[in-house]
Amino acid sequence: MRKIHGIIAAAFVILLILAGVSYKNFKAGEADDKKAIRIGVALYRGDDSFINMLRSNLEGQAKEYEKRTGVKVVMEVVDAKGNQNTQNSQVDRFISLGYNAICVNVVDRSMASNIINKTMDAKLPVVFFNREPVEEDMRRWEKLYYVGVNAKETAVLQGNILVEAYKKDPASLDLNGDGKVSYVLLEGESSHQDALIRTEWSIQTLKNGGVPLEKITGAIANWDRSQASAWMEQWLSEYPDQIEVVICNNDDMALGASDALERNNIKKPIKIVGIDGTPQGIEGLRTGKIFGTVQCDGEEYAKVIFEIAAAESLGDNVQDKVALRDGKYYDCSQRAVYQQ
Ligand code: BGC
Repeated sequence: MRKIHGIIAAAFVILLILAGVSYKNFKAGEADDKKAIRIGVALYRGDDSFINMLRSNLEGQAKEYEKRTGVKVVMEVVDAKGNQNTQNSQVDRFISLGYNAICVNVVDRSMASNIINKTMDAKLPVVFFNREPVEEDMRRWEKLYYVGVNAKETAVLQGNILVEAYKKDPASLDLNGDGKVSYVLLEGESSHQDALIRTEWSIQTLKNGGVPLEKITGAIANWDRSQASAWMEQWLSEYPDQIEVVICNNDDMALGASDALERNNIKKPIKIVGIDGTPQGIEGLRTGKIFGTVQCDGEEYAKVIFEIAAAESLGDNVQDKVALRDGKYYDCSQRAVYQQ
């Protein structure tokens, strides 16, 4: 019996020594070689098509980065389901877990200050993306970044798709030949920086391009396919035979408008334009549901978000990796794609 006790005690001592050694290695590995980085990603809504695309691209970037650099990446992605309070708690958790950097697609862009206060206290760098905090907030700390697309540029590209089509053949837009192009408008969330600017500059570009416009009506469909489809359904019955063009702030709403045309068996070549170039949008373009879209480079978008977060996590100089405007902003490239 005494012998057994002795063996157990010896085994216990060996275990303790081993545990101590591996703990030391872990700590040393983290502090000296920085062989692992931990990044939290907070999404405003995981069911948004565009955000979903960015999410998979970000996960792809993390894998590619691990392969290229040998640095292990732990990336946790959370979904706030459209609730700012939920997102605030998710950020609190990221802070308490000691993440090295976080990427935030803030639910309410006017409420970013809460997240900024906490992350500043915790010295945790933040890469905001897609939903831009107000400039005043962005200026509060040098470790706040924003990655997005230039909304005016997007809108001018979208408007020009239609200007070109009109120049080539006015009757392809002015379907009833009354000298006016009658359009309806589907807009994104009213609080989103992209929605207002996209609408304003898309219409302005059409006007500047000499397209005679007549607005029938418009509505906010919050980037959402089914809301857009419901509006379009209503307009098709309120304004039968009048709609010639549908201008949409994103591809999902463009697809929603097309769903309504399909449901009502409308064969008239109404032209629908979107923005994003999501896989669904590009597929809609291929099958002729959408006439054109503005595609941002989704790979570049995710790569830049990731590179900033990774550089911050390793304590590297971000500017050496990514060329930033004003030391904190990055605008992704984009291009118009449309049926020729
Ligand atoms: C995209 C939309 C997306 C929204 C989410 C916009 O920039 O064009 O498709 O729903 O961002 O914030």
